[in-house]
Amino acid sequence: MTFETITVEQRDAVTLITLNRPKALNALNSKVLEELIEAFAAYQADSSQLCAVLTGSGDKAFAAGADIKEMSEKEAADFYLDDFFSPWTSEIVKKTRKPWIAAVNGFALGGGCELAMMADFIIASENAKFGQPEIKLGVAPGMGGSQRLTKAIGKSKAMEMCLTGRMMGAEEAERSNLVARVVPHDELLDDAMKTAAQIAAMPPMAAIANKEMVNAAFETSLDQGLIIERRIFQILTASEDKKEGMAAFVEKREGKWKGR
Ligand code: CAA
Repeated sequence: MTFETITVEQRDAVTLITLNRPKALNALNSKVLEELIEAFAAYQADSSQLCAVLTGSGDKAFAAGADIKEMSEKEAADFYLDDFFSPWTSEIVKKTRKPWIAAVNGFALGGGCELAMMADFIIASENAKFGQPEIKLGVAPGMGGSQRLTKAIGKSKAMEMCLTGRMMGAEEAERSNLVARVVPHDELLDDAMKTAAQIAAMPPMAAIANKEMVNAAFETSLDQGLIIERRIFQILTASEDKKEGMAAFVEKREGKWKGR
């Protein structure tokens, strides 16, 4: 596969997807969306690939938002009739059942922050800066920021970020539970790839199941979530990897996974 606005490479069982419009600070235009949908679908379909990392090219940005130049030429009817921004969730988040990590290497603003929050978790470099500055453009978040940011960091901070458009640095983002971990800038990709390789070494079906369970916590009541958790747990006990995992523990050896 060759792309114009992203690069994709496979390193063993990990797919690395890099947003590649560094001159535009990796701003997210329609072509980026189209290519990311294709890249994530290929990752999901390839049984040799068990975790993915999404990062930004260049030293400055993960993504500085939806492409303002592209949006400035559109009319309200275009946004409404195309259900603009909808495919980010319907085609990428919902269809990617396998785990993926956002490695945020700089600005993650507007759609960039929202894209990072679509990942299963975020690892940030010390240089990362998160924000929802859409208010300064006369609009508001459109790719999930008002919802995912609020669920991640709570109402007060999310409201402050959206109403002032201010940026949040990496240290505050970690303290606020927006990111899983902050690492030195030069070590970001290496760290994210190692973390992804660690996940890729887990029983693949159990990885998907763990992701599904944690995500259920955002969509359901506690009672419903606990039922979902128990049912998925019970299904996993019928897997070959459950037998292998428990046998490997008892026999004091590493498990060999079948992914079923
Ligand atoms: N869309 C299109 N182009 C962008 C862009 C964006 N979101 N962000 C940066 N660029 C472009 C700039 O236009 C500039 O291009 P030119 O060299 O052709 O002029 C290039 O990237 C470099 O940017 P700057 O010169 O501005 O770099 P800087 O270091 O001075 O500032 C910045 C960096 C603070 C991130 C600044 O670029 C900025 O504020 N960008 C816009 C951030 C923003 O408002 N994002 C939200 C977009 S709306 C959105 O995302 C809606 C949604 O909810 C999905």
